[in-house]
Parts: sequence; C-alpha cells; structure tokens
Amino acid sequence: MKPALLVATKGWDPESWAERLRALLPGRPVLATERGGLYPGPDGDLSDVRYVLAWKPQQATIDRLPTLTVIFSLGAGVDHVFALPRLPDVPVVRIVDDDLTGRMTEYVVWQVLDHLRRGPFYRQRQAERRWKETRNPAARELTVGLMGVGVMGRAAADLLIRLGFKVRGWTRSTKDASGVELFSGPEQLDAFLGGTDILVSLLPLTGETRGLVDAALLRKLRASGPLGGPVFINAGRGGTHVEADITAALADGTLAGASLDVFEEEPLAADSLLWGFNSLTITPHVAAVSDPPALARQIADQIEAFERGEPLRHRVHRERGY
Ligand code: NDP
Ligand code: OXD
Repeated sequence: MKPALLVATKGWDPESWAERLRALLPGRPVLATERGGLYPGPDGDLSDVRYVLAWKPQQATIDRLPTLTVIFSLGAGVDHVFALPRLPDVPVVRIVDDDLTGRMTEYVVWQVLDHLRRGPFYRQRQAERRWKETRNPAARELTVGLMGVGVMGRAAADLLIRLGFKVRGWTRSTKDASGVELFSGPEQLDAFLGGTDILVSLLPLTGETRGLVDAALLRKLRASGPLGGPVFINAGRGGTHVEADITAALADGTLAGASLDVFEEEPLAADSLLWGFNSLTITPHVAAVSDPPALARQIADQIEAFERGEPLRHRVHRERGY
C-alpha cells in the first residue's frame, strides 16, 4: 500500500479535495478531516499518514501523525501552518501556480486602476445621480510601491509597468528586479514610502511583518501626489496592517482611499467602521482564489516526484516564515 494522505482543512470542504486526490493518485489511501474537525474521530488511526494537505490545520490533528513527512499548504501563504504551536520538523511546501498568480495580478491592477480612474468618486456621484467630473491623472504621473516583490508582486509589477505606472518595490533581501526601483530592509523603508502614491502590500504574515502598516507608516507615504493623498491596497495578509489605524487614516484624510481584501479577523465584523467608507473597497479574501483541480494536480505530481527521490519544489524557509 502506498503512503497515505490526509486533507486537513478548516472552512473548505476537505472531502472534495480528497476525491480529487483519490482520482489523481489511485491505490493510495486519501483521508479527509470532518469540516474543521478530527478524522476519523478522536480515537481513529492516522499512523500511516505521510502527507498532509493543509488549510488552517488543527494542532490536535497534526499531533496524531507519527509518520508525517511533508506538509503541503493549500495556499500560497503558510502563516496558517506556522501558527501551530507544535509544528513537526518536516518540510512545508506552498502553492506557486500561474493561475493563482494571474488572479492576484488581476486584483492588483483592478484596484490600482480603480483609484487612478477615481472609481470611488464616480460611484458616489452615481448614487447621488449627479453628473460631475474630477481630474483623472495619467498612470505615468503615479508611483505604485509594492511591499513584497515575490511571485505575486513581480507579476503585478510587470503589468503595472506596461500600463505606464512607475513601480518601486520593497523586499527583505536585495535582488534583481528589472523595471522596478528596489528598496530592501527596514533601513530603506522610509525612502521607499516617501516616493509612493499607491502602496500595495503583498507581504506574507511573519514575525517581521505583523502589524507593519500602522499609523506611523501611513504618514510616511507621499501626500502630494495627483490623487490628493496616498492610497493603500492590501491583498497579502490582514495581520500585516493595523485596522484601527487604517480607519483613522481614512477618516482624517491621511489616506485618500484604500482597498482591502484581507483583514485582521476574517470575516470582517458587520459592525466594523471600515464598511462605512466610500473611499474603501472591501472584498472578502478573494483576490486570488485557489483553483482546486490545478492545485490538486500540482500536489499529486509533487508527491510522486518526491517518492522518486526528486527534491520538493516551493519549499518555504522555516526560519524566515515564508
Ligand atoms: P513570495 O514568498 O514569493 O514573496 C514574498 C515577498 O515578500 C518577497 O518579495 C519577500 O522579500 C517579501 N518579504 C517577506 N518578508 C519581508 C520583510 N520582513 N520585509 C520586506 N519584504 C519582505 O510570496 P507570494 O508573492 O507568492 O505571495 C505573497 C502573499 O500573498 C502570500 O504569503 C499570501 O499571504 C498572500 N496571498 C493572498 C491571497 C489572497 O487571495 N488575498 C492569495 C494568495 C496569496 P524577498 O524577495 O527578499 O524574499
Ligand atoms: C493563499 C490565500 O495564501 O488564498 O493562497 O490567501
């Protein structure tokens, strides 16, 4: 019998993932947690499970896997895995997928263009049935600053550059980033922010990025740009920003606008003040939604390659946290 897999997901239907994996990896036991719960009940035997496909897995499930060898995150982010207080010392692999990257690029470009073309202003005028125009700057007049120029940030940068925006990026390490004016590390953060009109965060949530985008950081963005103030877009992780500070910055005009796809707590509470701002576009963590058939195929291929002795691809660095 080939080594078993366990699909351990919270909030997503694990059984539909398991069915796909059974079709792709015939002859191999594929188990699935009950929605957000334990499989197969608290006393069941999981001693043969070598691989876990995880989205927000429970510690109690992971604790019951003595032969666990690899954890596959079902997303690009792995903060939900590193949040486990007792994470076994096994490789953690994340998703890198053209479809997912393409969807994130669409989201970033959609939101950047919406602020450039004054979407919030015109939606408000439409609601008031008022025919009124405002100045539309050209893309070339604006600098988009990407926090995170990894797989997603790089793809978004390429399209923004083609649209005529000036693009700068902020990363942890220095790297080659053609067409992007690159800044790296905490020592270059202020310089990066000072020339940014639209700040886009595609950062992973780590010990270093938690709570990074706060009131002090937002005040360092360029306030004299053609949109009448800076704009903040976050499609990385909500834990990297401070929602109370974003609320205050929208209220006092420090921010001219914002787009948030991710939040400190998801779903966003119905009584959050954020819902009330016309200058803010809220989407429910859908910037780049996984395409289950494509991702299941990628993980099945990885498992087969790993068992042939090939190295795992898209393995994350545990000490960096992404
Ligand atoms: P990558 O790992 O490829 O890129 C991460 C980028 O962030 C890198 O450029 C990295 O710098 C930078 N970074 C990390 N830590 C720091 C730091 N402390 N200071 C400065 N820069 C830092 O990730 P992806 O591009 O694939 O994905 C990014 C994130 O997007 C995911 O982690 C996930 O949280 C989120 N996501 C959200 C989705 C949604 O639907 N909203 C969907 C998919 C992903 P360096 O280049 O030096 O390593
Ligand atoms: C991811 C996500 O990390 O959907 O892939 O947030």
